[in-house]
Amino acid sequence: MRPQQLSVKAQQGAVVSIDEYASKAGVQVLKQGGNAVDAAIATAFALAVTHPFAGNLGGGGFMLIRLASGEEVALDFREMAPARATADMFLKADGTVDYELSNFGYLVAGVPGTVKGLEAAWRKFGSLPWANLIQPAIDLAHHGIYLNAYDAASLVRHQKDLARFPETIKTFFKLDGFPYGTSDLFRQPNLAATLAGIAQGGAAWFYEGEMADRFIADVQANGGIINKADLKDYEVKFREPIKGTFGGYEILGMPLPSAGGVGVQQMLNVLKYLNLDEHNPLEVPNLHLLLETMRYVFLDRATYLGDTDFGKVPVAELLSEGHAAAIAAKIDRQRATPSQLLFEDVQVNNENLETTHFSVIDKQGNLVSATLTLEEAFGSKAVVKGLGFLLNCEMHDFNINPRQVNFQGITPANPNGIAPHKRMLSSMTPTVVLKDGKPFLVTGSPGGRSILNVVLQVILATTLYKLPLQRALALPRLSHHWMPDVVYLEKGRWEAETVQALASQGHSVAEVDFLGDAHSIFIDPVTGLYEAEADTRRAGWAEGY
Ligand code: GLY
Repeated sequence: MRPQQLSVKAQQGAVVSIDEYASKAGVQVLKQGGNAVDAAIATAFALAVTHPFAGNLGGGGFMLIRLASGEEVALDFREMAPARATADMFLKADGTVDYELSNFGYLVAGVPGTVKGLEAAWRKFGSLPWANLIQPAIDLAHHGIYLNAYDAASLVRHQKDLARFPETIKTFFKLDGFPYGTSDLFRQPNLAATLAGIAQGGAAWFYEGEMADRFIADVQANGGIINKADLKDYEVKFREPIKGTFGGYEILGMPLPSAGGVGVQQMLNVLKYLNLDEHNPLEVPNLHLLLETMRYVFLDRATYLGDTDFGKVPVAELLSEGHAAAIAAKIDRQRATPSQLLFEDVQVNNENLETTHFSVIDKQGNLVSATLTLEEAFGSKAVVKGLGFLLNCEMHDFNINPRQVNFQGITPANPNGIAPHKRMLSSMTPTVVLKDGKPFLVTGSPGGRSILNVVLQVILATTLYKLPLQRALALPRLSHHWMPDVVYLEKGRWEAETVQALASQGHSVAEVDFLGDAHSIFIDPVTGLYEAEADTRRAGWAEGY
């Protein structure tokens, strides 16, 4: 089994991701004189080869870029709904959601954003030739890799669904009928050829050239609705990061259509009013206040958040001090407030845990926090014929049942309903923390809706509780999402008395294997050293020099 390098101290640059090959590809680019954005692009392309679970060409993501010059940009390459998407495209005649169509195959794919997004990042900030950034990924796909233990186990876990698609079997299964394991050389010649096409022809080849023709032909032959115009018209957006403060720290977050930046900042704002005890992050009174804050902020999320290009979202109001104070005042310090009592007029979408996050810093102190996804593990499970990459299933990050009504018979406003060209709400929360205007922390995580809460807990652990990053990442995590009214706790990491105490306050607790995978970089304010730490929950590799 491949080893893991979970921690590294570096002076000149570092990349930390779930995968050794990908972190090394990023650092190789830094060593060639590339900057953090170049390295992030190389890491992202490498993850499309080595971490097919979530790394991708056929999906989307977000990149938060903070340059040493102080320039801050939130790059949005989230998938978009195709032009022919309709609000009820996943409903059966009886009004219920079609599980098959909304999870597997071709209809559930949003228009991919990753390749255009990475190229847009390179055009604006890159310094090395484009092809150099893709070459490590081409080599990995062409010569082959050994999957890390997490990815190999994931292939086994999802074997049944992957086997629905002959092209996926051809890609991820050996001739003996088993998926590639950690000791099998895993080569992806089709993906290598696709990457070579992108290296030579850029995003235009992918979105308008020969690849686009082959992509559309396969998608449409299998019931998908993405057409050539959808691909050609896909738009990357450079947005203003969400900016806020907590204690003496500045927090930069991802704006909508990510719920991450707004949600994390809202929670931090509320916590400012709740005066957490700064001495022990695991004290039950602190945990209770954290959970209640999550509950109220996730209610806001379900009520108001969606694509700002499609409707007005009251972001300023949500982030206002007045709103934070009002939530803080409502929180009962002793008892859990049943979510049902708060409101139940809104829908909750069901985001999956299978995303990937990585963090990058270069010697100038340029920072990139990047989170990418195919939505589910291995996306829609369908590999595009002859092209070697998986389709996303991001359409089900929309609220896909517009006819869902509440107990009073009212259909909710559904700000995250499906519409042509709209972006589905995300939880991906790439985040940068600054102290006195200088880089302090680069972080983010996979984990569906729990991402916001994982990032919140990493921020609290490093700023309020002042823990070293490694200890901050090792703290047990919990997560509440308003609905369902459940506290998710990491199995085996919490004291039984803590769980019991939360239950006795009225929290309904459930155990999950783990929450998040927050590969992060801490920048020591005194020495200036970079400390890259891989989260130990799945797999990880911190590389630096
Ligand atoms: N599909 C996971 C997310 O966007 O948060």
